[in-house]
Amino acid sequence: MAAYLFTDPGDTLVLSDLYWENYDLVFGYGYGAVVETFNLFRNGGFDTGAFAAKLAGISQEKIILLLNFPNNPSGYTPLTREVEIIVSEIEKLARQGKKIVAIIDDAYFGLVYEEGVYPESIFVKLAGLHENVLAVKLDGPTKEDYVWGFRVGFITYGIKGATPALYEALESKTAGAIRGNISNISHLSQSLLLNVYLSASYEATKQKKFTILKERCEALKQSFNKPEYQPFFEPLPFNSGYFMCVQVKDGLDAEAIRQHLLAKYSTGVIVFGNVVRLAFSATPMDKIPQLVENLYQACKDLKK
Ligand SMILES: Cc1ncc(COP(=O)(O)O)c(C=O)c1O
Repeated sequence: MAAYLFTDPGDTLVLSDLYWENYDLVFGYGYGAVVETFNLFRNGGFDTGAFAAKLAGISQEKIILLLNFPNNPSGYTPLTREVEIIVSEIEKLARQGKKIVAIIDDAYFGLVYEEGVYPESIFVKLAGLHENVLAVKLDGPTKEDYVWGFRVGFITYGIKGATPALYEALESKTAGAIRGNISNISHLSQSLLLNVYLSASYEATKQKKFTILKERCEALKQSFNKPEYQPFFEPLPFNSGYFMCVQVKDGLDAEAIRQHLLAKYSTGVIVFGNVVRLAFSATPMDKIPQLVENLYQACKDLKK
């Protein structure tokens, strides 16, 4: 719906180079956006320089910026100090007259596991930043509340100085977009979720699931500590969400590793270029060291 509402053919969509591949289908193939990516990581953190350079290099007046933290596939959320820089770069462009639609994909909202990582949605910083910045926050209970297949979503808008009439117009356009595209969302799913959100046990249940994911994330971090793994792969920064990425070293082919892992070690992973995505959301705690060990064994087999 956000792509339908805000993308015209030829618009530039700015993304980090690790991104949920459905954006290509929705924004690119669906609505004609031209996808431009910036390098996500540098020196173990968010590459603020690449982010700023990419934005500065766009000549069009309108820029659609898609921010997805915790990020799929990397499992990275910027640190609070990195968020400050990201926000100030966006503000700089807005002051220069650029019109920025900041689409904030909060599919994994709240799943932040480490100190120093920005714990809120970056929407908080962008919603009142500047008249030229429209912040569009997208939430889905799929990952936040573990309800695959419910097909419910939420859109929240924020723009500095907006009047009630402007928000009413946005709301009407959004309702029209839904009506004109998919007619309606499942009422059954909405009703079930509303009951859950109003239930007294909701927060406690959610906390329990959060703790499971946090502990798996920590265990996975520990599992990479073996020196014998280093010639073959290294983890990219991760601190949140459902997944993390492993960069395989030169001389190894991630797609060949993926196929070998599946055939010999009954281990399923997803691959983007030379990066392997591991889903700790789908790996029980007692299998996490084995997951990394299987990756190592597969790399060793293929290096022979
Ligand atoms: C970054 C990101 N955004 C959005 C979605 C879509 O979520 P849903 O299944 O609720 O459509 C996903 C699902 O994988 C995702 O990873």
